[in-house]
Amino acid sequence: MSMRFEGKRAIVTGAASGIGLAVAKLLASEGAKVVIGDLNVKGLETAAADIGGAALAFPIDVSDHDACQRMVETAVSEHGGLDILCNIAGVLDMAPLAQFTPERWARMIGVNLSGVFFLSRAAMPHLIETRGSIVNMASASGLVGVPYNSPYSASKHGVVGLTKAMALEFANQGVRVNAICPGGVKTPLLNAPPPEGVDWEAVMRSASWLDHGEMCEPEDIANAVAFLASNDARMVTGVAFPVDGGQTAG
Ligand SMILES: NC(=O)c1ccc[n+]([C@@H]2O[C@H](COP(=O)([O-])OP(=O)(O)OC[C@H]3O[C@@H](n4cnc5c(N)ncnc54)[C@H](O)[C@@H]3O)[C@@H](O)[C@H]2O)c1
Repeated sequence: MSMRFEGKRAIVTGAASGIGLAVAKLLASEGAKVVIGDLNVKGLETAAADIGGAALAFPIDVSDHDACQRMVETAVSEHGGLDILCNIAGVLDMAPLAQFTPERWARMIGVNLSGVFFLSRAAMPHLIETRGSIVNMASASGLVGVPYNSPYSASKHGVVGLTKAMALEFANQGVRVNAICPGGVKTPLLNAPPPEGVDWEAVMRSASWLDHGEMCEPEDIANAVAFLASNDARMVTGVAFPVDGGQTAG
């Protein structure tokens, strides 16, 4: 097995489940020390036990700016620096537009977009020191719109924009910033039944990656994250990289 992350220090959010868990496991299996964060404290402890000595659990709500700052400070003081930030934590919320109250909108933007901004902002000085990199989890919904999904689509388009802007701002300081845009991935996120008032056929017409072809496994996404975080991608920055079996290609 290759050991692309020997001596590297990473933060992975959303690591109690699904894609974040697969990413934390893969980075650790190739030599990284990982600080793993999640709102689900029990799931996080199970993940840390599963990964073993390379993982340190840090319970966090990524929409909390101060907590994001503390997570980065803890990772740097425990491991002596930071090379990789993987912003994977996210929530999905589908409903007719009128049901999205200001609170519901703010929660979606707070977790999916502000969380990425807060952790990236806190990590950047440390990543400049190590010429490190950030990988953000956007979505196919960050490239195309999906009906009944407006706050989620807005948050993920926001992640793509934030990724590109940070990539340009920090390119000459050696920090790479990329995003992945998965299609449908077999995780608990997609398990919820269609919400009341949502025209599911309209969703499927536009979000065909949820319905057609083969769904991604969390490991398919983790492989792409690891590539972008590794030195193999040393000339790749500012991309919104689809991993969806080609379903947003045309
Ligand atoms: N599953 C898919 O089809 C799919 C497709 C495209 C993008 N994504 C994105 O991938 C990422 C991971 O999703 P997943 O499919 O693995 O889902 P998941 O539900 O299995 O994992 C998401 C994790 O994020 C955690 N989380 C939620 N809110 C948080 C918060 N405020 N602070 C910290 N942690 C929080 C959850 O507890 C959970 O462990 C998300 O950003 C999601 O939007 C998923």
